[in-house]
Amino acid sequence: MAPATDPEQLRRQVLEELEQATAWLQSRWPERPRVGMILGSGLGPLARCVEPQAEFPYTEVPGLVPPTAQGHQGRLRCGHAGDVPAMVFQGRVHLYEGHPAHRIAFPVWLLRRLGCRLLMIFSAAGGLNPQLAEGQVVVLTDHINLMGVNPLVGLNHPDLGHVFPDMSRAYWPRGIALAQRLARQLDLPLPGAVYAGMRGPNLETRAEYRFLRRIGADVVGMSTVPEVIAAAQVNLPVLAFAVVGNMCLPDALGRMTHEHILQATQQATRHLAQLVERLVPQAVSELAADQQQPAT
Ligand code: HPA
Repeated sequence: MAPATDPEQLRRQVLEELEQATAWLQSRWPERPRVGMILGSGLGPLARCVEPQAEFPYTEVPGLVPPTAQGHQGRLRCGHAGDVPAMVFQGRVHLYEGHPAHRIAFPVWLLRRLGCRLLMIFSAAGGLNPQLAEGQVVVLTDHINLMGVNPLVGLNHPDLGHVFPDMSRAYWPRGIALAQRLARQLDLPLPGAVYAGMRGPNLETRAEYRFLRRIGADVVGMSTVPEVIAAAQVNLPVLAFAVVGNMCLPDALGRMTHEHILQATQQATRHLAQLVERLVPQAVSELAADQQQPAT
């Protein structure tokens, strides 16, 4: 569909596409996903946490666009994580691929409409905090949006969710504590981290890395932020994990390649999968326990 230019038309178009995609998926996989996962660069193998019942290429699902970035599959898996119905977006699209921000938020709105209660996001990131190391997994506690765009522009309408979403608990605090408790049991270090979202596609300059560290970021990446903003709009608690694929120390910066980042990220997937397998059922039951209350 040609992109709408008028805000009213854009809203109608997005709502229509959401209805189509919801009906399309419900007719092919009748369960309500309780957890939704979005997998980024090099993290496709995490899909194995979900036993598949159905899989669809993004090209078949209304409203989804196939990713072009290396390391992103573009398949939607529907199945069970333990006994929890789950949907896994294997690969995501990014702003740097030229898509408007609402296209990146689309899977989040879709999950919410399908009945999802928890969004889990996985991405690769650069490590700004010198205490981090390549291959280290972090759980995001907050973000700084430096992407220059916002997926809710023109779409902050009651038909979609909050008009002015509160971001103070966008990263589910009790979920973060639970993830860290379970990680300790697995001997997996899982520090909290603030994520700086950049539009990309280039990696940052030394001066930019220095700046990002000074303004309080621990890691930097080119994804996650649009999805988290969309999740806050629709009251969807988020657990977001990033794997450090490269260290970004401005005074000791070597040359870096995307292949290196993918490789370093892939190495962490086994540990991360162990954590996710334990975390999903506990997180979902914790959320079910306080169904009527906002997630804190
Ligand atoms: N910058 C931005 N995004 C990234 C990086 C980086 O250094 N590493 C992995 N994703």
